[in-house]
Amino acid sequence: MRCRLLRKSYRLLKSWILNIDHSLLDIELSLNFKIYYLKYHIMKKPDYHILICNSYRVAGDAKGFCNKNGGAEFIQYVTEECADRGIDAAVSSTACLNVCSQGPVMVIQPNNFWYGAITTDRIDEILDALADGNAVEEYLISE
Ligand code: FES
Repeated sequence: MRCRLLRKSYRLLKSWILNIDHSLLDIELSLNFKIYYLKYHIMKKPDYHILICNSYRVAGDAKGFCNKNGGAEFIQYVTEECADRGIDAAVSSTACLNVCSQGPVMVIQPNNFWYGAITTDRIDEILDALADGNAVEEYLISE
């Protein structure tokens, strides 16, 4: 009787240890996956974020000065021109930046350069200067 009880206890203990072992393996696999995920899935931030006003209104369509004066086309243009110059930038369209009278507006971050009345010619000058880390002072609408 005593011997049977000991064997049963031994089996229970063994299965409990095996379960712990499997749990540890699960934790280890989970940690390895998290390390792999963090190692290979953290994106590299671009050097610049270029925002081009496209006049979006809250819960509405794009319908403002910048959009009517080329805002949508400038997104593609700036993206291609940055690639040609080797400028590492994410280009995005934005809602109204509240300086409509000086539009179309383009903002370059992290420099905080705000440009107004942009055209394709001005964009070329601005990106040439940006490739050297500079601003084109005469087109800035911010200090
Ligand atoms: S619509 Fe572009 S700043 Fe307002």
